[in-house]
Amino acid sequence: MNLDRFPRHPLLFGPSPVHRLDRLTEHLGGARIWAKREDVNSGLAYGGNKTRKLEYLVADALAKGCDTLVSIGGVQSNHTRQVAAAAARTGLGCVLVQESWVDWPDVVYDRVGNIQLSRIMGADVRLVQAGFGIGFKESWEQALEDVRAGGGTPYAIPAGASDHELGGLGFAGWAREVAEQERELGVFFDTIVVCSVTGSTQAGMIAGFAAQDRPRRIIGIDGSAKPQETLDQVARIARRTAELIEVGRDIEDAEIVLDDRWHAGTYGIPDDTTIAAIRLAGRLEGMITDTVYEGKSMAGLIDLVSSGEIPRDAAVLYAHLGGQPSLSAYGAAFL
Ligand SMILES: Cc1ncc(COP(=O)(O)O)c(C=O)c1O
Repeated sequence: MNLDRFPRHPLLFGPSPVHRLDRLTEHLGGARIWAKREDVNSGLAYGGNKTRKLEYLVADALAKGCDTLVSIGGVQSNHTRQVAAAAARTGLGCVLVQESWVDWPDVVYDRVGNIQLSRIMGADVRLVQAGFGIGFKESWEQALEDVRAGGGTPYAIPAGASDHELGGLGFAGWAREVAEQERELGVFFDTIVVCSVTGSTQAGMIAGFAAQDRPRRIIGIDGSAKPQETLDQVARIARRTAELIEVGRDIEDAEIVLDDRWHAGTYGIPDDTTIAAIRLAGRLEGMITDTVYEGKSMAGLIDLVSSGEIPRDAAVLYAHLGGQPSLSAYGAAFL
């Protein structure tokens, strides 16, 4: 694969840690489970999966002479918080359109967690009324226009940094990093479990792993509750990324797997299964997952391993993509 021809602006500490989840493994009595931790990948406002993607987008923004990052997400978007952090670290301006993607009763929902952090980091945070969707939006076009009208040069980053030419590169690099860590640790992860919503995390992994010799199962756990949209976006970005990094072969449909059993019916809303999974990982491992994303992929991991759908002799890598800052907006879920 030819990833290194793309400029990368370093935002991570280095490779994210990989470690065993021994007590969870023992409790479930099935496959061996490990985690790779994007939640501690960086010193930028608690990190997360977007920070890794943004290394390539920020490099592109700087190369193009842009002075303001403009992006969009829900009120408790982890992505927009990471854009704010990347902008602060790089000395760029930041405009964030925060839409009402989630109807959640905590009265502090639009004051704590991610949105609070973005405000602390000096981003221009704009709350707008619009429902959940991973596509392009009018309010976002308006924000870009406002920057131009003020004499600035915006750099447009779509929701989740996904539907962007360079959106898959960060996690193609993650796949290479996994292979290096496997050599050091003397292990091979035949199964990867990853939460998917805007798609470029899983898509980047699919493209990056496609460049390696040994096949593996990459199981996407849908958190969007609009699985067909997410699946289409994963497929599109995986194929585009594979071409961009010159994998040298087509991505087969069978390599693109999105399981829709754990999204709890609505984006951003946990159900009892989500909450039980969050509590189990917390109680057994001291590992914190969130109600919107990782609690859902954790629920998937738990069921897939305990039911034997992931076989006992498998070595599973759970991609922990961050997201804990939103937990303070979900106090009502843990009373
Ligand atoms: C914590 C967390 N996990 C998973 C995801 C899903 O990643 P992607 O949008 O690249 O599919 C996101 C962002 O959407 C996230 O913030």
